[in-house]
Amino acid sequence: MTRLEAAIRERRVGVLCERLRRHIPPGRRLLDVGAGDGRLAAALARTTAPRALRALDLAAARREDVEVEAYDGRRLPLEDRSVDVAWVASVLHHCDDLTGLLRELRRVTAERLLVVEDRLESAWDRLRVTGLHHVIEGALDMPFSPRGFTSRRGWARRLAEAGFRVVATEDVAPPVPLFPANLLIIAEPA
Ligand SMILES: C[S@@+](CC[C@H](N)C(=O)[O-])C[C@H]1O[C@@H](n2cnc3c(N)ncnc32)[C@H](O)[C@@H]1O
Repeated sequence: MTRLEAAIRERRVGVLCERLRRHIPPGRRLLDVGAGDGRLAAALARTTAPRALRALDLAAARREDVEVEAYDGRRLPLEDRSVDVAWVASVLHHCDDLTGLLRELRRVTAERLLVVEDRLESAWDRLRVTGLHHVIEGALDMPFSPRGFTSRRGWARRLAEAGFRVVATEDVAPPVPLFPANLLIIAEPA
């Protein structure tokens, strides 16, 4: 990873941590699905005093402060309603079964789901988002589905189909200028 990439990643995690932690009360059981290298989970664990934290992804990763566990990408290895707050940050558009993952998140989440996705409200947003993801796919071998992206209304519909209701949405500034902005969706079991 170049120093520039590392700096962008660091800045992105800082921005997301600052926004997500406002929606995570202390003492909760937390779940990060699609946790990647575990950096965001570690930052949120440091700032939200969780009772417990699980971090899952398709491949395992180990940091000194967080262990990311591998699972099959389909069935979350968790009991029903066994986590209070779950989040999926920049994950759903990479999933081959986005609807299935949302239903699994509904099954295991008792209190709140936080979704971070690329904001897609205009043709300009779509151009930037798909352009950036083609570059990321080539550089980092991280396939995505253009159909994974949608607008606020589209996310509200997808989440409702999985049994969540959206209680708020927030725009999140991009980590560096010219990058697409993110959308933070705060949802609760319906
Ligand atoms: C762009 S990375 C985001 C990593 C991390 N959430 C972050 O914000 O830094 C997308 C991640 O989603 C994971 N992913 C893709 N499909 C998944 C699935 N069905 N379940 C869990 N993770 C998945 C990928 O392996 C990858 O680590």
